[in-house]
Amino acid sequence: MTKEKIIELLNHALDLEHSANIQYLSHAEIVEGQDAEPIIAKLKEIANDEKGHAEKFRALIGALGGVPSIKMAPAHPAKTIREILEVNLKDEKEAVDTYRKILEELKKEKGQGYYDFKLEHDVRHVLMEEQEHITELEVLLGKSGSSY
Ligand SMILES: [Fe+2]
Ligand SMILES: [Fe+2]
Repeated sequence: MTKEKIIELLNHALDLEHSANIQYLSHAEIVEGQDAEPIIAKLKEIANDEKGHAEKFRALIGALGGVPSIKMAPAHPAKTIREILEVNLKDEKEAVDTYRKILEELKKEKGQGYYDFKLEHDVRHVLMEEQEHITELEVLLGKSGSSY
């Protein structure tokens, strides 16, 4: 795989992070009801993680000599708390699949001139945080019962 292809994959990841950040922030503003507070807090906390992931991917792309994307992947609207949790859970799973594929590609690149351990380490770190987001959303969904 060429360096350009790796940059392309990282830019796709960056687009996903842009939309995840905005989507969580938007959803946090429309959550209502008696159980809203902890859910709003969690959505904002995750949004902040996504912002950090975007920064990480941007830095990796820059370090490889690429131009970080200013685009967003398609975002997904939701209205109810249940919808919000389900939509974001689905997107988190997509992110995990995407980053897992990037990691597999990176592992094949060991020995290439541009390969560096930090690249693989950072992608793995982001992947682990997305897996935590999945767990957190699942916990909230489990708690939400039928009222949402
Ligand atoms: Fe993320
Ligand atoms: Fe996430």
